Amino acid sequence: MRFTCNNWNPIKSWRPVKKVGLMVHAKITGTGSAVPDKVLTNNDIEKLVDTSDEWIITRTGIKQRHIAAEGEYTSTFATRAAENALQMAGVKPDELDLIVLATVTPDFPFPATACLVQNNLRASKAAAFDISAACSGFLYGLAMVEKFIRTGAARKALVIGAEVLSRIVDWTDRNTCCLFGDGAGAVVVEASEDEKGILSTHIHSDGSYWDLLYQPGTGNRNPAVRKTLDEKLIYINMQGNEVFKLAVRAMEEAALEALAANNLSGSDINIFIPHQANRRIIDAIGKRLGLNGEQVFVNLERYGNTSSASIPLALDEANRSGKIKDDDIILFDAFGGGLTWSSALVRW
Ligand code: ACO
Repeated sequence: MRFTCNNWNPIKSWRPVKKVGLMVHAKITGTGSAVPDKVLTNNDIEKLVDTSDEWIITRTGIKQRHIAAEGEYTSTFATRAAENALQMAGVKPDELDLIVLATVTPDFPFPATACLVQNNLRASKAAAFDISAACSGFLYGLAMVEKFIRTGAARKALVIGAEVLSRIVDWTDRNTCCLFGDGAGAVVVEASEDEKGILSTHIHSDGSYWDLLYQPGTGNRNPAVRKTLDEKLIYINMQGNEVFKLAVRAMEEAALEALAANNLSGSDINIFIPHQANRRIIDAIGKRLGLNGEQVFVNLERYGNTSSASIPLALDEANRSGKIKDDDIILFDAFGGGLTWSSALVRW
């Protein structure tokens, strides 16, 4: 429904969400994802900068990434991913109480891309807003939605991670242009009396490292003026080597925190779904947690680093390929600009 000034009465339209008992759990009931059709291989990137397929695969594990075409935006993929997740969950858009969308590449500075998705879905009852926590954004959103659901403030919610990073990548910088890709992933989270669902979430930040990984423009420090464009301030700026070391340490800590909070160890994990930034980071953490290759889900070779989309995109792929079984314990682990890091443990 579209509100008009004549018929919108905020007092009348507010309805408290029905509270349920204290033992309410937050359960993921549907997953979805969407990526652009256009694929950019490492060989394509060899034509843009001084690099090689061999260097990119050895240092990152990435073979290709999907890139948005003209007329495709973050909201495009977010909407498609959300539709897929809703369909799997059997939830209608107008049943949603909440849409939380994590992104660092919103369609506009405002309104929130979540509001555009709400409109596309016709999710007329849902409150919708964006959060910014870079590659940790999806798990930050999941942590937030879990609390909404556990407190009875929402019954059905969407958490989406969606990015079109290709528009903030400097395609002449070999240090960054081979790393990133576009796409979206989404989950439906519902209140449930079932013991299964989200067992714990942990989120952390350290703003003292903000300048290791950031987009210098087009916020109000470096607004969108000619100089910002000329000085290439609109592009991702990353000190990859420093980020790499901190990522391994912080992701290990977040994973151990999730295990300790649930009295579990690495051997109890059926599937580990980490942020898909670099194969070497994932392997290092897997080793530190004592996981074997079978436990670790990796799909970054086909998508690159899709920031906030990477975990829900990987989850959807694992789910739809039948890799996740009923009662499986899934550990999610992320790290990103901010710096931010986070983990979540789920019983499927
Ligand atoms: N092709 C060929 N050579 C390259 C390329 C390339 N694409 N990129 C860098 N190099 C060169 C560098 O210029 C450097 O050359 P030099 O020694 O002559 O100066 C050399 O390779 C080594 O560079 P390093 O940066 O030390 O390479 P490293 O092994 O660290 O790999 C990488 C770089 C892949 C970026 C890695 O550091 C990494 O993955 N970092 C983490 C990124 C990440 O996890 N981000 C997480 C969150 S992202 C988000 O929040 C949006």
